Amino acid sequence: MIVSLYSTKGGCGKSTLAVCLAAYWSQTKKTVLVDADPQASLSVCRQEVLGVPVLQDTGKGIGKTIEKLAGEYQRVVIDTAGYRRRKNLDALAHSDFVLIPCKPSPFDLREAMEAAQLLGEIAGEGGRKGSSPRYAVVLTMAQRTAVSAQIREELQNSGVPFMSAQIGQRVAFVETPITGFPAAGSVAALEIELLAKELRRRLKA
Ligand SMILES: Nc1ncnc2c1ncn2[C@@H]1O[C@H](COP(=O)(O)OP(=O)(O)O)[C@@H](O)[C@H]1O
Ligand SMILES: [Mg+2]
Repeated sequence: MIVSLYSTKGGCGKSTLAVCLAAYWSQTKKTVLVDADPQASLSVCRQEVLGVPVLQDTGKGIGKTIEKLAGEYQRVVIDTAGYRRRKNLDALAHSDFVLIPCKPSPFDLREAMEAAQLLGEIAGEGGRKGSSPRYAVVLTMAQRTAVSAQIREELQNSGVPFMSAQIGQRVAFVETPITGFPAAGSVAALEIELLAKELRRRLKA
């Protein structure tokens, strides 16, 4: 299963979610993280706490790299760069599922919609193994505020695929690259588990 984190917006939580999902899956599945962002954000992660290999690949043949990894690993998680670039598109086309993180702000909402539109276009072209990559927007850094509730409602009503699972604004997520997966039983750990399970359900459906 190949999952990419994508948005045309920087700072929306792609790398954080990539790290958390990979760390979550690594508890039970052979998992690898691919850093397809030239900024190499994932290089700051402490490998020993994440427990998954991190592969830096911003090269041309990322599609081939991904297919090869998919033969070796049960979960391939790809962190992409936050802007439109050819290599991103290759990674997206070779994914089974693309998650588009969206922060609860009007600016972020607009960018998430643009990213979803792009995914819709790629889906039209046909993706991995002839099937279209599935995608959905996920609300992240959510807070108990009126604007957070409003953005969630707008996403729900927008017609773009939208994850029921959401990720809150939590210190545990900021710490993940240093301390690893959030503590067992914490709300942060539960949120990642619910997100991963919803992804799985959507891919089976
Ligand atoms: N759920 C969250 N709660 C709190 N802070 C978060 C959360 N997700 C990401 N962050 C913080 O927001 C910033 C941007 O996140 P990052 O994952 O680097 O985004 P991107 O990869 O899209 O640029 C980082 O400082 C990160 O620690
Ligand atoms: Mg990043």
